[in-house]
Amino acid sequence: MDRQTGTRKIAWLTGASSGIGRAVALKLADNGWQVAASARSADKLSTLAAERPGLIHAYPVDVTDGQGVKNAVKTIEQTLGPIDLALFSAGSYKRESAREFDAEALAEMANLNVTGTGNSLQAVMEPMIARQAGQIAVIASVAGYLGLPGGGFYGATKAALINLCEALRPQLEREGVTLQLISPGFVDTPLTKKNDFPMPFLISQEKAADAIVAGLSSRRFEIVFPWQMAVLMKLLQALPYALSLAMTRRMLRKQ
Ligand SMILES: NC(=O)c1ccc[n+]([C@@H]2O[C@H](COP(=O)([O-])OP(=O)(O)OC[C@H]3O[C@@H](n4cnc5c(N)ncnc54)[C@H](OP(=O)(O)O)[C@@H]3O)[C@@H](O)[C@H]2O)c1
Repeated sequence: MDRQTGTRKIAWLTGASSGIGRAVALKLADNGWQVAASARSADKLSTLAAERPGLIHAYPVDVTDGQGVKNAVKTIEQTLGPIDLALFSAGSYKRESAREFDAEALAEMANLNVTGTGNSLQAVMEPMIARQAGQIAVIASVAGYLGLPGGGFYGATKAALINLCEALRPQLEREGVTLQLISPGFVDTPLTKKNDFPMPFLISQEKAADAIVAGLSSRRFEIVFPWQMAVLMKLLQALPYALSLAMTRRMLRKQ
């Protein structure tokens, strides 16, 4: 809520039809925001909007369609007003394997996780830079810190997002726009439901949304949670390769 005018600020979320994005949409609406919710599934977005009538609005779009994303942002700004906060949660995950390496699957994941985020960034950065105001948050993952067997495709796309955000943060700062990186550990969502391995320190999507919304107010560069996973992954990343590879080798599956 804007304290001076008493009006609700506008947030635009991608990946809002499910999991973390959905939980953040509900939490922002409960915290005084007007939410524009995007994903491909129009039906799921309508169900979400119906949970907070007048506060959450559906704007279906495929983030891999650059022009479609630009059009969606224009429509949101014409119908709701200037976007104050944009949060990009659209993404997917599939395991990779050296024995059945599938470069097409890698390209598909990169197209969604990296190019889709790039399309979303471009669409909001233009109007935000023109206004010299705004806040953007990109969901990467602690999986982007270092390569884990089976998580190579996913980790590669998330490492790309981390690097991109590191590069953009100072440039956007100069333009009056805050860019934040969100690095979750394991969160219980449809994305992780298909995992058949133990997920240490798994948290609910509601807990993830709490950590994200608190982190957004702090405006610090990285919002990383849960802390146990953050410490573990940052330690692994800081080790010399001889040690970190000796540990990740133990994650290999017997086949
Ligand atoms: N869950 C975890 O443990 C975890 C950990 C670290 C990072 N993350 C990241 O957090 C983000 C959200 O993950 P989640 O666990 O909440 O997954 P999820 O429940 O599977 O949600 C993914 C969202 O992305 C949307 N999406 C997929 N393809 C899209 C496209 N082409 N265009 C627009 N939207 C698209 C999906 O909606 P539609 O299918 O309706 O389009 C859905 O709303 C992802 O970036 C993920 O990598 C998750």
